[in-house]
Amino acid sequence: MAEKGRVCVTGAGGYVASWLVKLLLSNGYTVHGTVRDPHDEKNAHLMKFEKASENLKLFKVDLLDRSSVSAAIKGCDGVFHVASPVPPGSVPNPEVQLIEPAVKGTLNVLEESSEANVKRVVFVSSAAAVSMNPAWPEGQVKDEACWSDKEYCRKTNNWYCLSKTEAESEALEFAKRSGLDVVRVCPTHVLGPKLQSSTNASILVLIKLLKGYLWCRGLPTFKIRESVVFECKLPLFFKEVFREFQVTKEEPCWYQGRCQLLFQLILQFK
Ligand SMILES: NC(=O)c1ccc[n+]([C@@H]2O[C@H](COP(=O)([O-])OP(=O)(O)OC[C@H]3O[C@@H](n4cnc5c(N)ncnc54)[C@H](OP(=O)(O)O)[C@@H]3O)[C@@H](O)[C@H]2O)c1
Repeated sequence: MAEKGRVCVTGAGGYVASWLVKLLLSNGYTVHGTVRDPHDEKNAHLMKFEKASENLKLFKVDLLDRSSVSAAIKGCDGVFHVASPVPPGSVPNPEVQLIEPAVKGTLNVLEESSEANVKRVVFVSSAAAVSMNPAWPEGQVKDEACWSDKEYCRKTNNWYCLSKTEAESEALEFAKRSGLDVVRVCPTHVLGPKLQSSTNASILVLIKLLKGYLWCRGLPTFKIRESVVFECKLPLFFKEVFREFQVTKEEPCWYQGRCQLLFQLILQFK
């Protein structure tokens, strides 16, 4: 089959990017996947995808090392910039560990894409770049005009939100001044089966919800019956999570509720 196109996916071994790589390969694309360490066991799943042996090439890339970014993007028609630090909790040095790789890393990807005449870059931002805006009128839909308030993020130590907000606004500015075609997407919480062996931050949120450690502020309390989980179409995923993280029905949230978010999610798949 003729090559459909050649695209680069940054952070290929991560939770969201792994699904993207799998999908692109199955649709006939040749993929340049960037990983920080191609020999790390946590990236081993990538070369097991269908068509990976012919159509997936892994590049060792750190977003802050511009020449490594350049090598991965060279020859590509499109770039999906997915990589960004997504820490499961607080980090000791947010400027260095979060802000710099997210913002400078994004600019490196965009500058290299522009130099390589890439046709389009899809930048994966986040609802985190939208939601932290206390001045936004209550009840008004948060659309493209709504951005997280950077000062508010700093004041409240929401460093991840700040990193995504700054990275997305820099991407927007870069697109305006360079003419590069940049599409931004802002996913909310992503949950579902994982392809990689490691556990990412958004799956950890689910574990915390199930274990009753996390309370979704503002949401009414809810009782989840065991049968609701096990009768819906997501049982395999949940059972897998239960087994892996040894969540038992004795965990407090089963009886205390407070898991409206999870409950809604389960109902969606019923
Ligand atoms: N999951 C969600 O609910 C969700 C929601 C909205 C938006 N997003 C966005 O989706 C993207 C992927 O998130 P995810 O949940 O899939 O997280 P993930 O599994 O932690 O993946 C993040 C990826 O970024 C890579 N990365 C981090 N810093 C890097 C650096 N300096 N250089 C090169 N690569 C670096 C990581 O590589 P290593 O494995 O080497 O650390 C990893 O592959 C992120 O941009 C995130 O903001 C996620």
